[in-house]
Amino acid sequence: MKTDLLITGVSQLVTAEGAEAKRGRAMSALKIVNDAAMSVSGGRIARVGRASDWTGQAETTVDVGGAAVVPGLIDPHTHAVWAGDRLGDFEARASGRTYEEILAAGGGIRSTVRATAAASVEELAALAKPRIDALVRSGATTIEVKSGYGFTPAAELAMLEAIEALAASERARCGARILATLLIHIPPIDAADRRSYVEQVCAELIPEVARRGLAAAVDVFVEREAWQVGEAEKIFLCAKRHRLAIKLHSDQFHRIGGVELGVRLGALSVDHLEAAGVEQIENLAASQTIAMILPGVSLHLGIPAAPGRKLIDAGAAVAVGTDLNPGSSPLYSSAAALALAVRMNGLTAREALVAGTVNAACALGLTDRGRLEVGCVADFLVLYTNDWRDVVYMLGANPVRAVWIGGRRVAG
Ligand code: NIG
Ligand code: FE
Repeated sequence: MKTDLLITGVSQLVTAEGAEAKRGRAMSALKIVNDAAMSVSGGRIARVGRASDWTGQAETTVDVGGAAVVPGLIDPHTHAVWAGDRLGDFEARASGRTYEEILAAGGGIRSTVRATAAASVEELAALAKPRIDALVRSGATTIEVKSGYGFTPAAELAMLEAIEALAASERARCGARILATLLIHIPPIDAADRRSYVEQVCAELIPEVARRGLAAAVDVFVEREAWQVGEAEKIFLCAKRHRLAIKLHSDQFHRIGGVELGVRLGALSVDHLEAAGVEQIENLAASQTIAMILPGVSLHLGIPAAPGRKLIDAGAAVAVGTDLNPGSSPLYSSAAALALAVRMNGLTAREALVAGTVNAACALGLTDRGRLEVGCVADFLVLYTNDWRDVVYMLGANPVRAVWIGGRRVAG
């Protein structure tokens, strides 16, 4: 049978195998095919193997000239939609103020909420577009984007509409897939209003988001300066009633029970974990919940790095994301997030690639991507060099020469 596309001249084709999340030692298992070829039909991978064994024809043959090929990266945690900037915070922190102090004083996330609420849906989508394009150029072929800077139900819906518009325009432009998450980010300043806000989220916002299919999951920021465990639980139980997946921002600064809540409720992932201790590590390792680490935050805020090495040694499934956002991680490269996970969180190159591909896909509930196996979507990256490890080695330059999505070259 003639396939649509044949990729030849591949020095190394590297992939994890099997759709399930890889945990512990299994995070090091990669299939590496030297002198490889890969064919694509109908936007999906038709065959992968040694070039010397290859038979069969294709409509189009592309010789990548001895470059390494890896799966398209999955960025499973971003806040790519926002208005305004946080350059004032950046300067204040450089002068010694902390992220939490700035937030507690009504700045930080709250200042982004003010700027975002004042922008239209069209403005928000237009502001986010170059950020998404930068992530795609860096190798991301599927990207999660959260709301959470809207605060009021109407403004959260507007953010989700902006993400929906962005998803449609990126799908048409390059085929990149964008998945939306409803993030319940910060509580009202007045403690007396917290209860009615949670009630409104559960009675109005989540049902409306579910009815309109505006998000696949609900995320809550569980932290001293944000939501408490009991409040988050109410929101999550409502999300589950509406058949939405759940995930958490938790253990970023303090351990207040977010990991335990997430594991108990079957969260897809618990994200951040910079302050996680032995109990949280063991809890995650014994669960199906993915431990998501975000090294850009530790770099930008100067907080401890999440215990990536310890999580993997304990048997957890670890994923990595950029957490692209204006306040805690202005990191516009999904490949760089993996490179930082090696330096800051103690992952090996193999573990980092698995964390940014198949495990990141699983953290989004997706099983048809993040791998170069027959039947998966044909999302792959051609590197500048012949060694796949460059994708997690290079700092400050893009290791990705070309991005292919659904069997179509969309960048490079
Ligand atoms: O993932 N920790 C809370 N939320 C975001 C930061 C958002 C912001 O600072 O604007 C995070 O770090
Ligand atoms: Fe985040």
